[in-house]
Amino acid sequence: DWTPDSFIETTVAELKEKIGEDRVILGLSGGVDSTVAAMLLHRAIGKNLTCIFVDNGLLRKNEFSDVLENYKELGLNVIGVDAGDLFLSRLAGIEDPEKKRKVIGATFVDVFDEESHKVKDAKWLGQGTIYPDVIESSSVNGPSQTIKSHHNVGGLPDYMKLKIVEPLRLLFKDEVRRVGKSLGLADKFLKRHPFPGPGLAIRILGEITKEKVRLLQEADYIYISMLQEEGLYDKVWQAGTILLPIKSVGVMGDERTYESVVALRAVESTDGMTADWCHLPYEFLAKVSNKIINNVRGINRVVYDISSKPPATIEWE
Ligand code: XMP
Repeated sequence: DWTPDSFIETTVAELKEKIGEDRVILGLSGGVDSTVAAMLLHRAIGKNLTCIFVDNGLLRKNEFSDVLENYKELGLNVIGVDAGDLFLSRLAGIEDPEKKRKVIGATFVDVFDEESHKVKDAKWLGQGTIYPDVIESSSVNGPSQTIKSHHNVGGLPDYMKLKIVEPLRLLFKDEVRRVGKSLGLADKFLKRHPFPGPGLAIRILGEITKEKVRLLQEADYIYISMLQEEGLYDKVWQAGTILLPIKSVGVMGDERTYESVVALRAVESTDGMTADWCHLPYEFLAKVSNKIINNVRGINRVVYDISSKPPATIEWE
């Protein structure tokens, strides 16, 4: 029978056996998957694990500093890399969702490669890949069947010569959370909503600019903070804000405005493979809408996404 404790015991033993005295580097994202993968490796090989956390400039507001701070508490050895400008410059002018993912994936590899040279003699690359990542990125019937290319699957190019170790490859999200709980991780890690590797890039429809990222971060921060304050955050599988590539007319005081629209998304799910839109209370949605429009200059309209997956997906791109 599968239990978190038996999984931890066998996995840690296997990791010890497989890795021995080698050094491992692992990319942390702040999410539950990479954190649990890091904790398992840490248990197995201790100081031979070095974690790298890259700020791609597409994280949520305050995410980079908050998450780095949280990791310190766990005793992990983490290098934080601020690469926001590089990512944004490479993304300039790109509108196609899959191209965005490819550019972000490639840039991540470059940054990671450079940082990993600072870790002498690393032989392994650890990843927090879980089962749904594996399925959604693989294509049984050729590339046309690929839903979205999750850039964190498939590892790094051959020239990096690192062997891949993915301790969570066979687990679903709820199992990862149970393992994390058994490892003693706090709720701020375990209950964190999933967040895509390409981050806000796939929630800014169309071209990405620094200003759009800032705008979306502000709106998103309001939405997520209010979900937390109203005790709704933990009832939702995943929530986020999307910046639409259109403007709409509004009125502020006696002035006409012509500004951006954001969509709020919240879904219920057990594994991200299918999802239902959440029936958040109208009063709550009204408060969020008011707060965003009154506080974020540049946004004058808020809409709520009432699509389920399938046929929609959780992300808009
Ligand atoms: P979709 O939009 O396919 O999303 O319904 C399912 C889950 O996967 C996340 N997602 C991604 N995660 N890289 C990631 O690491 C990606 O490119 C990516 N695209 C979607 C999404 O946030 C949701 O949790």
